[in-house]
This record gives sequence, C-alpha cells and structure tokens, in this order.
Amino acid sequence: MLSKLGVYGNPMRISSTIQLGYSPQATAELARQWTKAMWNSSLWKKVHWLGVPVQQWPTDLMLMQELIATVRPNCIVETGLYLGGTAVFYASILRLLGIDGRVISIEIQINPTARKNIEASSFADRIHLIEGDSKSEAVHERLRALLGCEQDILICLDSDHSYAHTLGELRAFSRYVPIGGYMVLFDTICQELAGTPNGQRSWTHDSPMTALEEFLAENRNFQTDPAWEKFMVTFAPRGFLRRVG
Ligand SMILES: C[S@@+](CC[C@H](N)C(=O)[O-])C[C@H]1O[C@@H](n2cnc3c(N)ncnc32)[C@H](O)[C@@H]1O
Repeated sequence: MLSKLGVYGNPMRISSTIQLGYSPQATAELARQWTKAMWNSSLWKKVHWLGVPVQQWPTDLMLMQELIATVRPNCIVETGLYLGGTAVFYASILRLLGIDGRVISIEIQINPTARKNIEASSFADRIHLIEGDSKSEAVHERLRALLGCEQDILICLDSDHSYAHTLGELRAFSRYVPIGGYMVLFDTICQELAGTPNGQRSWTHDSPMTALEEFLAENRNFQTDPAWEKFMVTFAPRGFLRRVG
C-alpha cells in the first residue's frame, strides 16, 4: 500500500511508482518532496545566522561551511547581499577556520538594514560591499581592483534568479575561479518548484537551472560536483560547480 503525506492539509502521493520506505530511491524521492514542501512553506525565510536573517536552507549552510573548510579560500565573492546573512556567515566561518580572508558582496541596491547588520556583527572589517549590477563592467572593474592578484577565490551566486541574469553571472564570474576551486549557484531548485503553490510557472525555463545547463554545455572547464548533493535536501541541486580545467 502506498503511504501518503499531508502537505497544505491535502494528502499527497509521494509517487505513483515508489513505495515509501528506506530504499535509496524512496529516500531521494522523500528528500525532494520535503525540499519542495519546505520551500513552499517559506520556512527558509525564518533562518538566522548569529542573529542576522539568511535566506538559505540550513543544510545548504552546513554544506557551505564544509566547502569553505575544504577549499580554504582567501576571498569569498558573493552576489546577492539582501540583509547580509550569507556575508556574515561566510566571514564568520573564515575567522573560525583561522583564515585571514575576506568577503566581497555585490548587491544591486544595498539595504540600510544590511549595512547595520554587518556593522553590528564582529566581522565588518572582513566584509566589503560593492553596490551595482553584478553583470556590469563597472562592478567587475571594482571587483578586480579589490581582488588584486588574489587567486584563492570562492564564488557564490545568489542574486537575480532569471535565466538571462544567471547565465550572464556564470559567464562573468567563472573567470575568477582557480582550477580546483568552486563556484556555487543557489536556487537551482526553482525549476522543480514551477508547478508548486508558491512557485512561478515561468521557472520551468526562466530560472537558474536552465542557465546552469547552458553554461555547462558551453564550458567544459566546469562540472557539477555530486559530492555536495550528499544531504539530498538542498535548494542548490547540481549547483556546486568545480573548475576542472
Ligand atoms: C536571494 S537574495 C540574497 C540572499 C542572501 N545571499 C542571503 O542568503 O541572505 C537576492 C539579492 O540579490 C539582489 N540582486 C538582484 N538583482 C541583482 C543584480 N542584478 N546584481 C546584484 N544584486 C542583485 C537583490 O536585491 C537581493 O538582495
């Protein structure tokens, strides 16, 4: 007999073909349904790091902590500051690891609350903000000036999630990633959320995953690293990209 889960009060079949249980396939299916339900419940909007709102699912923050501890970058460049949560998170992990590194966060319109959150944290001296469109040449000029000859860079993309903007960001920021280094693209889950209550129909084609597929097809120097799918529950499926050449 197929088990059923209640989501939004309505019983929902997990799948017409997979029995609920503990097989690898059933676990993967449950994880994917759980991810979709958590995203739709907006619980990810309630996550905080050291008191600052951070728009990430907790398992993805844990993965980022592990990635930073593995790669040990001197500089983390992110797009999408919002209220400063990930900037503070990345800066705090660098400090805990004893890395004298910094975070550069690029945001099209810096929210005054983000500035306050960063100033109030213990990491303001490590976080540099650039205001502007992450695809613009002006922003990249400022970024190159801040980076200088820095090589150990980790890129985290979390700004405008449209297909066109994401593809532009992937192309523009891939040049900063050293061989063996990583570029993380968040919210690739959007495509799968297209048919869900809070998802947008356009996300089937106008979201990070379609941009990621096009970028990977045109750029053989980057590959999705499946090692970072290990928790199964992630808002960034296939989004951990390793530069291999
Ligand atoms: C999903 S939020 C970032 C969340 C943040 N990384 C966190 O986890 O707390 C996306 C942010 O990207 C910014 N953004 C949108 N378009 C942008 C662009 N073209 N360039 C830079 N930032 C942009 C938005 O203003 C918003 O603050």
